[in-house]
Amino acid sequence: MIKKTLLLAADSKRLERTISRNRLTKPLVARYVAGTTLDEAVAATRELNAKGIDVSLDLLGETVSDLSESAAATAAYVDTIHALATQSPGSTVSVKLSQLGIGLDPIVCEGHLKQLLDVGAEAGITVEVDMEHSSVGPQTLEAYRSLLPGHPNTRVAIQAAMRRTPDDLASFTDIKPRIRLVKGAFLETIDKAIVDPAEVTAEYHYLSEWALKNLPDPAFGTHDDTCIDIVKAAAERLGIDKRDFEFQMLYGVRRELQEQLAADGYRVRIYVPFGSQWYPYLMRRMAERPANLMLFLRSVISD
Ligand code: FDA
Repeated sequence: MIKKTLLLAADSKRLERTISRNRLTKPLVARYVAGTTLDEAVAATRELNAKGIDVSLDLLGETVSDLSESAAATAAYVDTIHALATQSPGSTVSVKLSQLGIGLDPIVCEGHLKQLLDVGAEAGITVEVDMEHSSVGPQTLEAYRSLLPGHPNTRVAIQAAMRRTPDDLASFTDIKPRIRLVKGAFLETIDKAIVDPAEVTAEYHYLSEWALKNLPDPAFGTHDDTCIDIVKAAAERLGIDKRDFEFQMLYGVRRELQEQLAADGYRVRIYVPFGSQWYPYLMRRMAERPANLMLFLRSVISD
């Protein structure tokens, strides 16, 4: 119930305006967001790199209302790629296609994505495509699919909770996708997604083994000990080296675990968001961890 309310709140522009202006939410934002500027994000990236941890930078911002905003987001990503190429060459960038305009004009959006893939290829920086709500999920996957032949290193997020996921994965017959397997962070209806957490974990179990057996260099985006142990055990059983897949986690979530996995010889990449449009991202993090909610409410109410 709390989770559903928070996910609904993530889409509320009115709440966004009220809460974004509230200075008392700052400490909570700082836990999950590396800063508002590219310089701050690169500094956070280098701190993680010094611990043997890779990064994927995410410029915060979702659904744009006109195409000039999607062009501006694309230009900001080009700057981000260039900064990473010189200051943290092992990093990737993560993009949301709603931010590149998929809801306004899918052809323009695909053009923006292609530009980022081309700039990334030249700079040696891989692009990862986030998977959003099912209202844009299928278009996101098709944009990824159409650009994959020219850019086979590009990664796409795949949501274990979505019922269509096994068919989506089976539909890649020529070039196998590089995926980031996640549970799924959006509010979906029961016909489209599994909602029971235990069932989502069981699906994650099945899909992670399938990905290790069938896909190149899979990434597992999770902080769940059960899912992590499942991946580790399956890789060991299948004789897959620790360096041939990676764990991915979110900035500010389970930091000791991130460092422990890196110390144990696993590849670890942290998804590091930056920018001023943190509201929907933060609300989804609250929905994953309602225990943070009291802290958040106290800060909002006492303002
Ligand atoms: P689960 O939610 O069960 O959490 C396991 C444990 O981790 C919790 O018990 C808690 O200890 C800790 N934890 C989890 N979330 C926390 C939080 N917010 N604050 C504090 N502790 C927390 N989703 C999507 O739909 N599209 C996408 O593109 C992506 N991309 C993505 C990239 C990366 C790198 C990650 C790690 C995750 C995503 N996600 C995503 C989000 C994903 O779908 C999912 O919502 C979260 O990862 C939470 O699920 P867990 O697997 O961590 O398990």
